[in-house]
Amino acid sequence: MSTAANGKPVPGGKNVLVEFEDGIAWVSLNRPEKRNSMNPALAYEMLEVLEALEIDDRAGVLVLTGTGESFSAGMDLKEYFRATDGLPTLERLRIYRTNAMWQWRLLAPYPKPTIAMVNGWCFGGAFTPLISCDLAIAAEEAVFGLSEINWGIIPAGIVTKAVAQVMNQRDCLYYIMTGETFDGKRAKEMGLVNDAVPKDQLRERVRKLARTLLEKNPVVLSAAKQAYKQVRDMTWENAADYLASKMDQTSFLDKDNGRAQGMKQFLDDKSFKPGLGAYKKN
Ligand code: ACO
Repeated sequence: MSTAANGKPVPGGKNVLVEFEDGIAWVSLNRPEKRNSMNPALAYEMLEVLEALEIDDRAGVLVLTGTGESFSAGMDLKEYFRATDGLPTLERLRIYRTNAMWQWRLLAPYPKPTIAMVNGWCFGGAFTPLISCDLAIAAEEAVFGLSEINWGIIPAGIVTKAVAQVMNQRDCLYYIMTGETFDGKRAKEMGLVNDAVPKDQLRERVRKLARTLLEKNPVVLSAAKQAYKQVRDMTWENAADYLASKMDQTSFLDKDNGRAQGMKQFLDDKSFKPGLGAYKKN
């Protein structure tokens, strides 16, 4: 934890860096000398950071990226695997659980919008936080790889499940079975990321996307993304019931009463047509 110029504490500061910029929290995995591979210390710190940002007004949108030339080279083979192999089972499981806590249990249903900004190397375990983020933009030059097969392991944790969620079966199996690398353009073709741009345009592309999200009603935006992630695995009947309840919950929680405002602007004032321009928060 460090302190910003205005005196408010900034979470992280060692293995995770946080920088605030007009509603955007840029969160960087910060072990560039180890290509931002993820060790237990990073997992504990990231959990604290995510929990802190959840209730921090300076963070309207969270961007996950990596310091230096890497997004993340995956799990730290030395500190996460080799060093924990000899630990008592419960201690090892606690480390694994903390990793899962930040990478997907907390990040996937995170109440605020999340964008992965893949700036460079992205391997193995790094696919989990990448896919847990709602949206992802990569540098065309970024290099991705499900390299586990080369280490004599399978894409575990939750990596195999995560890739199956966003890529088709042929692509998943091809990269899981060959371990071949691919670039940002290919990641976009396969739907692993939303867009790929030249590296020198990456930050601006992500900034622009984050600003678009910041203009939406935050309560409705949060409910919309959470609803999508929940209903994917439900039956139609379950989904319809869940969505009706979620709709009511959202109206209850939305103190701006966006639904009534939208109706009034369109039906009475004739001042807003969604087909001619997106809704923007006042
Ligand atoms: N775990 C532990 N240490 C790592 C990892 C990793 N996943 N990736 C890089 N490092 C370390 C290297 O051992 C090296 O440490 P050292 O300076 O003490 O020797 C340092 O980071 C720099 O790495 P280099 O390999 O020297 O950097 P280079 O730029 O040449 O290559 C690259 C980068 C391509 C990312 C390479 O490091 C690599 O292939 N890393 C492994 C990627 C991988 O397969 N990850 C998946 C692991 S399995 C899983 O996540 C479940």
